[in-house]
Amino acid sequence: MRVLIIGASKGIGLETTRQALDAGHDVRALARSATAIAVSNPSLEKMRGDALKSENVEAALVGVDVVIQTLGVGLGDLFQPVHLFSDATRVLIVAMRRQGVKRLICVTGFGAGDSRASISCLQRLPFQIVFGRAYDDKSLQEQLIKESELDWTIARPGVLTSGPRTGHYRILSEASQWRNGIISRADVAEFLVRQIGDQTYIRKTPVLIN
Ligand SMILES: NC(=O)c1ccc[n+]([C@@H]2O[C@H](COP(=O)([O-])OP(=O)(O)OC[C@H]3O[C@@H](n4cnc5c(N)ncnc54)[C@H](OP(=O)(O)O)[C@@H]3O)[C@@H](O)[C@H]2O)c1
Repeated sequence: MRVLIIGASKGIGLETTRQALDAGHDVRALARSATAIAVSNPSLEKMRGDALKSENVEAALVGVDVVIQTLGVGLGDLFQPVHLFSDATRVLIVAMRRQGVKRLICVTGFGAGDSRASISCLQRLPFQIVFGRAYDDKSLQEQLIKESELDWTIARPGVLTSGPRTGHYRILSEASQWRNGIISRADVAEFLVRQIGDQTYIRKTPVLIN
């Protein structure tokens, strides 16, 4: 498959880039610092661009079968209003429609959308203080995706670690199962890459934890 990864230069996106290449996919890696990605592979195309600029996103979508969106904001940005997730997703949905690309796999997080109700009483206040602005915007991002005509999957990892890929993590699809936990970025990437050719979680919002 030809896969576009938006937010591919760091974290989950970089790990997803590596694992998608290992799985035999052609990867176009989009980020503002994409040219600095320290991976070289004939199946990897590094594309410097801004997820907020429709001309960059449209160009990145040409010839693509599947989009994986793994955008993130820095810690310092958490204490200001956050619009990146919803703004970039608005741009992406329009561009995917124009380019005729249907499959979107997106990372938000446990606490976004209807999973917010599953945050424990003890965690609710600190979560709101630190992550509230970002997760309000992730909730809007999820709403935009759910209202689109795309074949979407929204992955909601718990607290991220930089640990290794283990393949041992839980995929909690039902709201009654949702709870917080930890998971490595590498295991989240494994889940994302598995979705590339798999329909199991289309129109689902699984929480991912160890
Ligand atoms: N930390 C946690 O415990 C936790 C828990 C659950 C969910 N999450 C979520 O998981 C996601 C991934 O987190 P992470 O820590 O792996 O990611 P990260 O290290 O923050 O990486 C974010 C990526 O987004 C790209 N990016 C940001 N703005 C961009 C723009 N305007 N245009 C293009 N690319 C842009 C960055 O590349 P450039 O800067 O090069 O553009 C980078 O590649 C985030 O949404 C995060 O909120 C985090």
